[in-house]
Amino acid sequence: MGGIFAAISKSSENTVPIVIEGLRRLKYRGADNSGIAVLLDGRIEIFKEVGSIEAVSAKLGLENISSRIVLGHTRFATHGRPTVENAHPHTDCGRRIAVVGDGALSNYEDLRDKLLMEGHKIISRSDFEVVAHIFESLLNKEYRSSEFLEEIYSKMEGYFSFAVLEAEKQRIIATTNGPKLFYGLSDKYVLLSSSQYALHGFADQYGVLSPGELIILSKDGPTIYTSEGLAKQVQSLPLQLDPILVEKGGYKHHMLREINEVPEALLRTLSSVQKRYLNLAGRLVTGADNIYIIANGTSLHAGMIASYYFSELAGISPIVTSAAEFPLYYLENVGPGTLVIAISQSGETGDVLSSLYEAKLRGATILGITNYVGSRLARLSNLYLPIAAGPEIAVPATKTFTSTLQVLYLVALSSSRQKGKIEESEQKTRLEAIKKLAQNLDERLAFIDSEATKAAEKISLCRSGYVVSRGLTYPLALEGALKLKEASYFHAEGVEAGEFKHGPFVLVEQGFATIFIMPVEKVSAEATYPLIEMARQTGATVVVIGPENNQKLLELSQDGVTIIRAVETERHLAPISLAVPLQLLAYRLGEKLNRPIDTPRHLVKAVTQ
Ligand code: F6R
Repeated sequence: MGGIFAAISKSSENTVPIVIEGLRRLKYRGADNSGIAVLLDGRIEIFKEVGSIEAVSAKLGLENISSRIVLGHTRFATHGRPTVENAHPHTDCGRRIAVVGDGALSNYEDLRDKLLMEGHKIISRSDFEVVAHIFESLLNKEYRSSEFLEEIYSKMEGYFSFAVLEAEKQRIIATTNGPKLFYGLSDKYVLLSSSQYALHGFADQYGVLSPGELIILSKDGPTIYTSEGLAKQVQSLPLQLDPILVEKGGYKHHMLREINEVPEALLRTLSSVQKRYLNLAGRLVTGADNIYIIANGTSLHAGMIASYYFSELAGISPIVTSAAEFPLYYLENVGPGTLVIAISQSGETGDVLSSLYEAKLRGATILGITNYVGSRLARLSNLYLPIAAGPEIAVPATKTFTSTLQVLYLVALSSSRQKGKIEESEQKTRLEAIKKLAQNLDERLAFIDSEATKAAEKISLCRSGYVVSRGLTYPLALEGALKLKEASYFHAEGVEAGEFKHGPFVLVEQGFATIFIMPVEKVSAEATYPLIEMARQTGATVVVIGPENNQKLLELSQDGVTIIRAVETERHLAPISLAVPLQLLAYRLGEKLNRPIDTPRHLVKAVTQ
């Protein structure tokens, strides 16, 4: 993930300060690296460093630089660690263009190998550097927009947007196949931004680029070309925004923004996890004598769900344990044949890191899964896979949970494939199902939110509650209860549905909330309906979260049960789909109860000790 911001002055005004402010507002999209490309005497000059744009600006003295055309970037590292070389903007061999990008190229490694063979000089591990070199071939001729689009979309795969500053033509060209890109206009400037909110105060008109389109920005304004390369009329809208929402990208809380980013985070993850490393991860899993999955909190719940993935898809049963327990009880069986799968979105969780030191000392191999590729977890791992969900600022983890599940699912699929349990075609179909889920989630999120808001109203009248499920979604019940505690201070416990009658039922009565997540296994689902009925008859508040096409859910809603309909998807992706309504429920309850949702008391984002 990253943030793109560019400005062209229609006269000779310096736009460096505007781009610095734009990038500062986009910091929630990542600030591992920042940089700008400017035109000085017709030549491209790059100023980039490690850190946020404010830090980079202070270090490099950006206030002393003046240029009327500036292309800037703030980076969340997914390909390549947060180093100066990996910071955007990148240039081609002849330094005639500068490129910044958002998203990820799924065929990056292949493109890089090919360009190196052709003699290009590639200096970073950032995927967007290859865009500069691909584009280089077009520079020697008077190319048309259709050729540019053809060149890009025939070669590059993944989920990406990028912008190119062309020195000779004094213009900026940009395109996207998914990540949002907005242009902004005023009497003084022509602008480009990853969020319309960052344009506040600089533009009074704006517009959004559709996937596959190309925009060319110059001091004369924008020209937009359709995916076929035909010029289209630019239709902009008045930019009227609530300035209070600027810093959080248009949302009241980071948690709400981050839940809304779940669909695109899934697509980012899918493009970021490179095939060759996934194959390697699959080989580590299938070749290990014994496997431990270790993590804490939300990441542990993701690990618990992953054990079902490995067992069902690859016939492998890892031991899943809290990273706090691992060094106390499991080290005796850890040796050179052991694989430890360590999950931590921050990559800095103390218990995870100390477990890894112990495991490494005994010769274990470490497969790390983290959102921060510059973290200690990444450095300690023999192989790491990026979660690539983009930065998560709110303490309650949301989009990193769903993207972690996806990475683990991809590893399980790769292991399954290597054990000959599934064909390549099935693997592909399953990857397509992830894209479909992301698309459907994106379309349905507002509706799910409206149902979650109604359910939160009812739960706000209760003093305590359970989240109940079974099988693949049982760990999701634990996760739902954790989210309710963190975001709304509502006491909830996760209960395995089979255990419901063995004790927990005693507390269920009027004023108590029972939230059921419909199990994905048919037998378990059938066994859950009588429990829902039992809870309903006590007068308790009953909420059921299930797939939207489940007719039974509608019948329950007529019996006074509150339902939240999740997006229908294939079995193994159901925990991802069902997590979203739970997250929204926790958020809306926190909002209703006026809790400090993003920063719950006593908690920190990374528990390092
Ligand atoms: C839950 C939450 C915590 C973390 C836990 C592990 O919303 O934020 O439970 O999941 O502290 O953190 P990471 O994944 O960074 O190791």
